[in-house]
Amino acid sequence: MSSKRISILGFGTVASGVVRILTGQSGMVSRRSGCEFDIRHVAVRDVSKPRDVELPAGVITADWKSAATDPEVEIVLELMGGTTTAREAVLAAIGAGKHVVTANKSLLSEHGDEIFSAAREAGVCVAYEAAVAGGVPIISTLQTSMTSNQIVSISAILNGTSNFILSGMLGERRSYDDVLAEAQRLGYAESDPAMDVDGTDAAQKLVLLTQLVLGKRVSLDEFPRQGIDTLDLDDMLYAQELGYRVKLLAVSKLTGGQLEMHVEPTLVREDRAIAQTDGPLNLVELEGDAVGRLVLSGAGAGQMPTASAVVADLIDVAVGRTQQSFPLLEIWNANDSLKVLPAEQIERRYYLRFSVEDRPHVIADIADILGRNEISVATIVQHEAPEVELSDDSGAVLVPLVIMTHRTTEGRLRASEAEFAKLSTVQSRYVRMPVAD
Ligand code: NAP
Ligand code: HSE
Repeated sequence: MSSKRISILGFGTVASGVVRILTGQSGMVSRRSGCEFDIRHVAVRDVSKPRDVELPAGVITADWKSAATDPEVEIVLELMGGTTTAREAVLAAIGAGKHVVTANKSLLSEHGDEIFSAAREAGVCVAYEAAVAGGVPIISTLQTSMTSNQIVSISAILNGTSNFILSGMLGERRSYDDVLAEAQRLGYAESDPAMDVDGTDAAQKLVLLTQLVLGKRVSLDEFPRQGIDTLDLDDMLYAQELGYRVKLLAVSKLTGGQLEMHVEPTLVREDRAIAQTDGPLNLVELEGDAVGRLVLSGAGAGQMPTASAVVADLIDVAVGRTQQSFPLLEIWNANDSLKVLPAEQIERRYYLRFSVEDRPHVIADIADILGRNEISVATIVQHEAPEVELSDDSGAVLVPLVIMTHRTTEGRLRASEAEFAKLSTVQSRYVRMPVAD
């Protein structure tokens, strides 16, 4: 059996899982790839760090450049993360004629055009299944079984860390910090988890999916993005009371011939599969014009699920499947005629939570503002508050007031918000989330 020499850049959570599969399941991998993978180099920052997975002697190195360009190596696995050294390393590998497998969505969402074009010019390919939704085979599904469809909508949970935190806070009443620390311990979070919890990671993945199915390259600042880092348990409990779960929902869909995109904590009806997706799981709901709705779900983060996607890519490169599909991807289409729907025109229902003084006419003032902006109220929730004497100098008693609206536009809501800000009985801390029925 022939042997293919590979370099692995990085030996952290994901790369260690890849080595576990390549060494622990070498027979299965050889049967499926038609070759044996010979790990020639594993590049790390700190060669003296203790590792919990064994490597053949002499392969570990701090010299990523030599590992990426060694003339004997055919395939380079970029599993370092980040966008600086990783970009240099991937471009160096491509320049030296290597196929590249990467799990790095930050890199591809920022420098994808440059990397894909360099690969196309060099006649090599870039495989990136693990960069979107971890172990869920969404990229290969879109590139193979769904090619007979125009995808008209994607609604997805794309960040395992955020979903794990939401589940831990609501299901076990644990603090945000406590669950985030566990997500870091379990290897779900990025080395700097800021991008997990502020919505950036999910938005980067949504950009990659959108480019793959529509040929439209969208930058992160072209659509609304919010994370779970400012979310209160109170809002998750109100949502539950109303029959919803709060999920960090990433949406990309064709609306009236334009591209609607957003990543935001969203109320999802509790009977939908998305609402029932807990822990580090991801879920992608696709709508194709021929097949209709399709749902893929599985582990979106973590060592072995992510390694599963990386090794599947490696096998696809070894047997030549990627070399056939890569030159045909939608990413080459430069679909410039497709415009991103301006945020003000996005239309949906909203959940609003105000903190208001418990006085007469407060609800009427808010309802008046909504009414004048043509926003219709669907539900109001105000739990009974203790009876207090109202006196002007006693200090205001603040109570939560939750309103669910009927469908409206982001623009009308923003206009209402400018007016809420002028009400002396309404606190400036105000929560709003879209609703996906
Ligand atoms: P990680 O545990 O932090 O590992 C990163 C590895 O890269 C470490 O071994 C580190 O070396 C090495 N490295 C970093 N910068 C380097 C440099 N300049 N030169 C040489 N080596 C360098 O990260 P990870 O969780 O495995 O993630 C790797 C990639 O997979 C990222 O792009 C991430 O977004 C993506 N991903 C991760 C998951 C997940 O669940 N963790 C899921 C999907 C995708 P040292 O060990 O010496 O520090
Ligand atoms: N940090 C990412 C997440 C890993 O939590 O989803 C998978 O890309």
